[in-house]
Amino acid sequence: MTETPPAPAPEVFAERRRRLLATLGADAAAFFPAAPAAVRSNDVEYPYRQDSDLLYLTGFAEPESAALFLPGSPEGEFHLFVRPRDPERETWTGRRAGLEGARERFRADVAHDIADLEPTVAKLAADRERFFAAVGRDPTADARTLRWLHQWRQARPRQGRGPAVLADPAGIVHEMRLYKDATEIDLMRASAAIARAAHGEALRRARPGMREFEIEALLDGAFRRHGASAPAYPSIVAAGANATILHYVDNAARLDAGDLLLIDAGAELSGYASDVTRTFPIGLRYSAPQRALYEIVLAAQKAAIAAVRPGATFDDPHRVALEILVAGLIDLGLVGGSVADAIEHGAYRPFYMHRTSHWLGLDVHDVGSYRSGDGARLLEPGMVLTIEPGLYVAADNGDADERFRGIGIRIEDDVLVTADGHEVLTAGIPKEVDEVE
Ligand code: GLY
Ligand code: MN
Ligand code: MN
Repeated sequence: MTETPPAPAPEVFAERRRRLLATLGADAAAFFPAAPAAVRSNDVEYPYRQDSDLLYLTGFAEPESAALFLPGSPEGEFHLFVRPRDPERETWTGRRAGLEGARERFRADVAHDIADLEPTVAKLAADRERFFAAVGRDPTADARTLRWLHQWRQARPRQGRGPAVLADPAGIVHEMRLYKDATEIDLMRASAAIARAAHGEALRRARPGMREFEIEALLDGAFRRHGASAPAYPSIVAAGANATILHYVDNAARLDAGDLLLIDAGAELSGYASDVTRTFPIGLRYSAPQRALYEIVLAAQKAAIAAVRPGATFDDPHRVALEILVAGLIDLGLVGGSVADAIEHGAYRPFYMHRTSHWLGLDVHDVGSYRSGDGARLLEPGMVLTIEPGLYVAADNGDADERFRGIGIRIEDDVLVTADGHEVLTAGIPKEVDEVE
């Protein structure tokens, strides 16, 4: 089992809240509800996963909860709404922190029963000008927010005040989440180390004749044994032409000698995702056409990683990768014309239809803007992004040379921007042709 760092200390969450409160300003209230539970079937729910913003600001992982922030309020700046202790219910559904735990362990200034949420927020935020709450994600939450706005609108002529502006907290909290603090970087390194162990095991144990789900089980088992709570997203285990389906999750086919196996799998540790892809031959060595495509993707991936440094833009790694991928496609005769023309007209798109990077953190496709003004955002220390170029030749692509049809390759690592360049968090997971073979 990998040594994993502990979950962030209460002081870490307190510091994040201090920054949020300072940024909000004294005329604002900010509201962060828990993620709703999701029904899997009938009366069975999916494993619960807290909303990432609420988790980031409070560490509170229970369902049916919410946080309200009131900068400068004499009634308390941090209000946490939770399920009260209830021994009978807890026997069925698990332990609760309760109101006392919310105050003591989670350092709420005031703890409330979640049953009182609606009237309490209506009252506590009634003297504010701006109300920060995410809308457009959950219709139930949206309806509640609209009811609050309706009440405040009705009261405003007589009270002379009340929130009249609804604002999205993403601009504040998602910007904070984009720059990982030391605690988060430790957890992301540890999440990456778990992914390294899991991918290593899959690479060693994959054999012709196995099924994709056996590899999935190996990965999931390794995640859990090393202390991760779950896969960070449904693991993709795609043999042969299944690898040309980007979000393939059937994971039921047989592994045939001579095919490639694409594994895109990452762990979730204290909420933090790793996101790693490797593509290796099943049993044998890369065939000549597999190797030709693989070496192009690997060269593109390494060059894109090398382009990650402070001052580069978010688009630079993609641009660098795309040029190498397209030059390679032209060399192999899969795309005609010049690199510049193929990029301008998108002739490569049948073979490379996704972007090279996304932010990574509490969410696999993490929050934070990719743009700054009219351009791509500059990379800065503390940001974490994936570098994941690929090439995919659909099995039924009649225009492509037959030897390449049904080959899908992606190589993905997680990269932290540092003061003087980058750190590959997922380094050490084999990807060189010699290492893999
Ligand atoms: N595993 C999802 C992604 O690579 O973006
Ligand atoms: Mn991935
Ligand atoms: Mn990814």
